[in-house]
Amino acid sequence: MRLIKAKDYGELSQAAANIIAAQITLKPESVLGLATGSTPLGAYKNLIEKNKNKDVDFSQITTVNLDEYCGLTPDNEQSYRRFMDNNLFNRVNVNKGKTNVPDGTAKDPAAESERYDKLIEELGGIDLQLLGLGHNGHIGFNEPAPEFVKPTHAVELAETTIDANMRFFKNRDEVPQKAITMGIGAIMNARKVLLIVSGKDKAEILEKVLYGPITPNVPASILQLHNDLIVISAVD
Ligand code: F6R
Repeated sequence: MRLIKAKDYGELSQAAANIIAAQITLKPESVLGLATGSTPLGAYKNLIEKNKNKDVDFSQITTVNLDEYCGLTPDNEQSYRRFMDNNLFNRVNVNKGKTNVPDGTAKDPAAESERYDKLIEELGGIDLQLLGLGHNGHIGFNEPAPEFVKPTHAVELAETTIDANMRFFKNRDEVPQKAITMGIGAIMNARKVLLIVSGKDKAEILEKVLYGPITPNVPASILQLHNDLIVISAVD
């Protein structure tokens, strides 16, 4: 594991964007696993800037996002597809046809999950997976559970996750309670994992993730077993 302690969110975002840009430069047809949420926003802004300055070319990459809320159409303002379009895809020269987010409107979430894993397999797996960290140690929407779940699957969101995500909705009742998430299998199979963690409120969980026991109660703790993990933190 390589741990980079950034002095603040700005430095974290720059460092994360540099690593993602380096990945694309070294392998222009990279498969990038991407995350939503507040933490990657700064990195995405930096990448948009780099793309504008022609320092990085997204034209050949393929992306697979970690997760999507069940029941939200792609054009719903709160959907993760819309988030990615607004905050990255519509602002760089990516081929939108090669950007993938689980289909939250799928009638059969199990079949959609299977399709998503097959897609990742057909793409040859993920070169670089970007991850944020939930306050309860979740990655993607792999919530604390009795065991690690390997495949992409539909999940009931933890109450704490619903509380945390409420900030993006008008009220708590509007927050979807289910999501489809990439499983621990595809994340751990990624050739490189970049975990970014920001804010004093995440210092305690990050300590558990990196140095505590490896347990499905802290899903991100499994990353200790990944052989190419970079963590960038700004939690002091
Ligand atoms: C988002 C995702 C989540 C977030 C996590 C942290 O696609 O999969 O695991 O990364 O909830 O969210 P923020 O960055 O908003 O604190």
